[in-house]
Amino acid sequence: MTELRSLARLMLASASLSLAAPTWAAPPDTLQQRVAACIACHAVEERRDAYFPRIAGKPAGYLYNQLLNFRDGRRNYPMMSYMVAQLSDEYLREIAEFFAAQHPVYPPAAPGSGANAGAGALARGRQLVLHGDASRKIPACVSCHGAALGGVAPAIPGLLGLPSDYINAQFGAWRSGTRRAAAPDCMADIAGRLAADDVAALSGWLSQQAPDAAARPAAAQSLPAPLPLRCGGLDQQVTP
Ligand code: HEC
Ligand code: HEC
Repeated sequence: MTELRSLARLMLASASLSLAAPTWAAPPDTLQQRVAACIACHAVEERRDAYFPRIAGKPAGYLYNQLLNFRDGRRNYPMMSYMVAQLSDEYLREIAEFFAAQHPVYPPAAPGSGANAGAGALARGRQLVLHGDASRKIPACVSCHGAALGGVAPAIPGLLGLPSDYINAQFGAWRSGTRRAAAPDCMADIAGRLAADDVAALSGWLSQQAPDAAARPAAAQSLPAPLPLRCGGLDQQVTP
């Protein structure tokens, strides 16, 4: 955490340089320069940190929604909100498309707390991801995130290659209302139906599955229609 804080300070210092209003001496303001600041935390090697989520290769609409969410206060992580505070919708769209088009080979997620999941928890996690739990109205995660869990274009993210601690924190944020998507917020509904043990089980199982380097977000037509729950975020990116 201390490391994260000092990295954040470092990034704040360099970000304020790159985001400052251009002066006569400023280099041209290119997309490449803006994403350089992002890569300090979101690059492949850095991603083995227990917390930074991968963003490369996620569907552009999903990334765009998240950048809007950080900028407009529906997600809260001070460094992220700061990085995008001054950026226009159009610029955020370009940044999202840049990262969506990157497909580096990812190592398995950093193990984090998910490495301690026992056999029982892993079996429960696998069951929830592949089949859900009808008795608690929890749909299978694959029914929206794609059979290969590689995400679905344009706005549903893949779930492999994410650290378990990151996944746990997202479920915590949905439950406490600090991560929100456009209504109806399907992930907040699902988070409310999962027991704490279930979240640990599914994040443990997900974080132990190796991402497939060749996997790409699936086509929207590959999903059942209608989806098991409505998700407002799927419309949000069309009309931000
Ligand atoms: C200091 C490190 C840091 C920097 C610099 C940074 N990020 Fe992030 N980013 C994070 C962390 C940590 C999270 C997860 C926050 C949370 O818990 O919601 C995140 C989340 C995200 C997400 C959401 C990922 C998801 O799967 O939902 C996107 C998209 C993103 N960042 C894009 C960017 C872009 C674009 C930039 C550059 C303009 C950037 N980040 C710069 C640390 C950073
Ligand atoms: C009805 C469709 C649907 C189902 C079922 C569903 N999801 Fe999601 N999920 C979404 C959508 C849409 C998003 C993007 C939300 C947003 O824009 O913030 C999302 C986002 C996520 C994220 C955020 C990823 C990131 O990089 O931050 C995680 C983690 C997640 N879902 C896990 C799960 C798990 C685990 C299950 C099964 C228990 C599940 N989801 C079931 C639609 C669904």
